[in-house]
Amino acid sequence: MPSPSPVLLPDRSAYLLAVEEARNAAAAYYGGGDSPLDDATFDRLVSDIAAYEQQHPDHLSADSPTGKVAAGALTEGMVVHATPMLSLGNVYDAEELAGWAKSLGKRLGASPRGLHASPKMDGLAIAAHYRDGKLVRLVTRGTGTTGDDVSHAIGTIDGLPAELSTPVSVEVRGEVVLLQSRFEEANRIRTTHGGAPFSSPRNAASGSLRATGRDYVIPLSFYGYGLLSTTDDRPDRPIREAMTHTDLMKELGSLGIQTAGDTPVGTLTSPLLKDVQAYVEKVADQRSALDVGIDGVVIKADHPGDQAAAGSNSRAPLWAIAYKLPSLEVTSTLTAATWTTGRTGNLAPRGEVLPVDIEGVSVQFATLHNPSMITKLGLRIGDRVVVRRAGDVIPQILGPVVSARTGEEKPIELPTLCPNCAGEIDTSQERWRCLKGRGCNLPASITYAVQRDVLHIEGIGPKIVARLVEQEAVQDVADLFTLTRGQLIEATGSEKTAAKLLERIETAKQQPLSRVFCALGVRGTGRSMSRRLAAHFGSMAAIQAASAAELCQVEGIGAEKSALVIGELAELEPVIAKLGAAGVNLTEPDRNIPAAAAVAPGSAGDTTPPLAGLTVVATGAMTGRLETLSRSGMNELIERAGGRAGSSVSKSTSLVVAGEKAGSKKAKAEALGVSVIGPDKFAEMISAYL
Ligand code: IVH
Repeated sequence: MPSPSPVLLPDRSAYLLAVEEARNAAAAYYGGGDSPLDDATFDRLVSDIAAYEQQHPDHLSADSPTGKVAAGALTEGMVVHATPMLSLGNVYDAEELAGWAKSLGKRLGASPRGLHASPKMDGLAIAAHYRDGKLVRLVTRGTGTTGDDVSHAIGTIDGLPAELSTPVSVEVRGEVVLLQSRFEEANRIRTTHGGAPFSSPRNAASGSLRATGRDYVIPLSFYGYGLLSTTDDRPDRPIREAMTHTDLMKELGSLGIQTAGDTPVGTLTSPLLKDVQAYVEKVADQRSALDVGIDGVVIKADHPGDQAAAGSNSRAPLWAIAYKLPSLEVTSTLTAATWTTGRTGNLAPRGEVLPVDIEGVSVQFATLHNPSMITKLGLRIGDRVVVRRAGDVIPQILGPVVSARTGEEKPIELPTLCPNCAGEIDTSQERWRCLKGRGCNLPASITYAVQRDVLHIEGIGPKIVARLVEQEAVQDVADLFTLTRGQLIEATGSEKTAAKLLERIETAKQQPLSRVFCALGVRGTGRSMSRRLAAHFGSMAAIQAASAAELCQVEGIGAEKSALVIGELAELEPVIAKLGAAGVNLTEPDRNIPAAAAVAPGSAGDTTPPLAGLTVVATGAMTGRLETLSRSGMNELIERAGGRAGSSVSKSTSLVVAGEKAGSKKAKAEALGVSVIGPDKFAEMISAYL
């Protein structure tokens, strides 16, 4: 059968009606909704219009779909959201949250049947259109009514598969983010290709998603928080509009999509506002340690009936709210960069910024990481920079705000010689290092080694260390253990002090491996990593013999760090041999079952360590038997007694040991219902380990 020839539209009004029909169909189609016309009918309609226009060029309507992208439904690259992508109202504290919950209750005439809380990811919202299980279009939120078509990014976003586990037609909504751990890599890729660096992960996510025609890909991730049916979905599917948000999230997950619940903080469903508040506290507590940027918590009425009853205004649903948390990232101005050589010989650049407040702490200094980072980011003095402070770690400069440059910025000068000894530096690695390595800032590495929570040789302070180094009595950490009376008298000027120090040095030979290992100053390891290595391997020889793969079994060690540790241990071999020869203990006493515990009164042969399975946070100044313990001493004790030492309090904390002047952590524990005990009670609990 020959294809039907275009039926000429009879008159101008028929033409205008046809134009309107085609435009509506195109808007619905390109909006991700369902077109009232099938493809063939639509095509025929457009060719009728075109035929009419050929005969009546003077009647041409500006709305005509002919010759236009998406049949003129959009300006190029724009897509209409069939269901608008709304925004959210904000609350900033518990009181405001309670106020929102109250007004929701009023609207519903009853308490909501359930509340759902999930992390608010700091990225950009997108809609992913799946047709018969295949990802066919990606659209940014844009104005909420129309967004940009970014379908070119299909296949490059983790957590947003090109194909679902079931061939359904749905619209998935969620946030596209760049993980913190990929930010550095993203900037490396970008600057290597001549692009300006991104100032923050959020900025990088949005820039990368929009970019087309690049010959490199920046790895983004997706976290879903919404699921809508489209009308061509299979009729045997559950009606999503009648599902609770909790169930929708489960369905998203089973379709193969990563959801907000897949972040380490998970989600919460509860009818109780106090549970939501505790969840907000938990997220606030944990987020700085997470790879995904979280800037708040989104709280929603879980039940579809409650959602419908509460309704929406033109901007935001009234059944959901964003609880915003203070930003961990702020902008400031980089005013100077200074260089020091640390105890391991690494050169450390430090940036000075105009003081800014991040979560109540004034930040003035931030690490600039390493020289290659400075060059790759193209950082300049005078730049506006994004600074991030996360938990207890040193604040970091993430990157410059290139668009804010005035032209007055000055380059950062990189050192050509070691800032400490003016000797040559090794610039072949990312981290520059003085050629003298640990020997460059020997006083710093020895002072570190004798500290209370490392070898604990009291009485050897920076002054005596400086003299011992000057005398050349100490050239590495092992030399401490072979110091003679004469050398100590020379350094201290006192026979009595020298005798006392000799005794303490003798005692220090019995320190557990974790501390001796720490004293070596192996790059890439600190106190807690040394404890983990010692506990895992049990002896220095075993750590030295470990392969990269074996090292990687220790929490916090990956491919890069294992290679570094192996190199360091090879370099330190002569020092380790000297330690052994001097009679220093190089083994870890069985960390969870000390001999004393087995015979301790009350333990009755029970060798399960008292803190097994518990996360314990110590805060405030310790008293009584624990008086001499620093924070790191307490952490060591907690770990020896089988527990896990935490630094911040959350719902998952098992116990808080609150000493004198304990502040916000104690208060938080009480608010969350976490047990709080004093130092005396704790000392009793773990007395066998003291
Ligand atoms: S629900 C109609 N859940 O926050 C409500 N939004 O400030 C739709 N966002 O535009 C949003 N994480 O881009 C929801 N777990 C989450 C979210 C989330 C991040 C973003 C989203 C939204 C913005 C509102």
